[in-house]
Amino acid sequence: CLDVVFSPLEILPEADCWLVVDLLRATTTIVAFFELGGRRLLPVVDLDEARSLRDRLPGRWLLMGERQALPPPGFDLGNSPLDLAAFDLGAFDGAVMTTTNGTAALLAAAGRGGALHAACARNARAVAEAVAAHDRIAILCAGLEGRPALDDTACAGLLVERLLALRPRDLSDGARMALALFRSAPFADLVGQSRHGRRLAALGLAADLAYCCERDRSEGRPRLVFEGGRPVLVD
Ligand code: MLT
Repeated sequence: CLDVVFSPLEILPEADCWLVVDLLRATTTIVAFFELGGRRLLPVVDLDEARSLRDRLPGRWLLMGERQALPPPGFDLGNSPLDLAAFDLGAFDGAVMTTTNGTAALLAAAGRGGALHAACARNARAVAEAVAAHDRIAILCAGLEGRPALDDTACAGLLVERLLALRPRDLSDGARMALALFRSAPFADLVGQSRHGRRLAALGLAADLAYCCERDRSEGRPRLVFEGGRPVLVD
């Protein structure tokens, strides 16, 4: 079965494998982080927790993320996948990341057990191939403040399309809705019409938006593991 959940506040289904999507921009940024040589990424919900965790960790850690789409005070960088290129990520032990919706969705799915990968449009084909052997896959959209988001739902539809190309599956109503949306219009148009897409454009972040809309450009398939009881994304 292939299911799509539109926000982490829905009742989450049982699944062997989770694909977590925050197209704009957390999971796109996570995929870029590993493509650029990042080693580990610790998703955290709370700003203060993120700051104190970075201070407690031994070694050199980046503090990244956003509130209202902008870098919070004291952070090394925001949540732009394009801004990561300015850092030599291999020189850091990893990054601590907190974002409004994306990291909360990752941690909600992490608590459910099963395999978990960060997914976005750029790694849609690669991540679908990575999980194709699983029977019960759930795609969890980060959504927007507990509500469905057009951008994440369109990306979930893209992932459903890529998974169906590999193997026929039973689709939940959520998966059918996401697929119908994805097939209804050009992907970048759907994403551009979303509330968060329009907000990023208004903030002058159209280049981020265009990058996030590119499909099947990355072989990255970041996965979640537990280290010392803490959820960590690794390549
Ligand atoms: C989020 O987690 O809400 C997003 O990634 C926000 C953003 O675009 O920075």
